[in-house]
Amino acid sequence: MLQDRTAVLAAIAEEVRGCTACRLYQGTNNPVPGAGNPQADIMFIGEGPGFHEDRLGLPFVGRSGDYLNYLLNLIGLNRDEVFIGNVVKHRPPENRDPSPDEIIACKGFLDRQIEAIDPLVIATLGRFSMARYFPDARISSIHGQPRYDAEAQRAYYPFFHPAAALRNPGLRKDMEADFRRLLDVLAKVKAMRAGDAPEVQAEAKTPPSPPDDKPEEPPQQLKLF
Ligand code: URA
Repeated sequence: MLQDRTAVLAAIAEEVRGCTACRLYQGTNNPVPGAGNPQADIMFIGEGPGFHEDRLGLPFVGRSGDYLNYLLNLIGLNRDEVFIGNVVKHRPPENRDPSPDEIIACKGFLDRQIEAIDPLVIATLGRFSMARYFPDARISSIHGQPRYDAEAQRAYYPFFHPAAALRNPGLRKDMEADFRRLLDVLAKVKAMRAGDAPEVQAEAKTPPSPPDDKPEEPPQQLKLF
């Protein structure tokens, strides 16, 4: 039920606000528990908050967020229809990579968010969230290749991190092609949950203009690859 999910997510966010389980909370302005639709079919999981996210307490609100919005719009979705979370909920200093102990300290929050939302597709953004579902895989080899989990009745779908695609325009073609298949992946999971598995072609809507590629101050998430 929507009210239950909303209440569970609010309770998790409250716990994140008071969390001192690892060092990351020190020196931050705001935790970034995650945001979006508690009934989302698609849940995106990024790495961790950057400068702008720390300022606002919301995920993906800097340049990476502009690009994520662009990608969502490309397939006729907007942020209100999905849920966006991160592997760690406080900003790593200087946007460094989160360390294994920090990821473990934060894992329970993400696990509980996933349990509350029960998304049909978990879309990973970058290698840290990918590693939860595809340990030892290389993102350059497996991006855009969904794994369907019959037991969980869910798909895991790995994407490059939006910041990587912004930094390396050569990745954008793949990133956008991977995104264009997201609704197909979702349709297949819906069919799986309904007890059959027809081939479904998702229809992409009119693409919006891409965000401009101007540098952002200070730069976000520069060490993803
Ligand atoms: N990069 C991430 O991985 N997460 C955010 O919330 C913002 C940028």
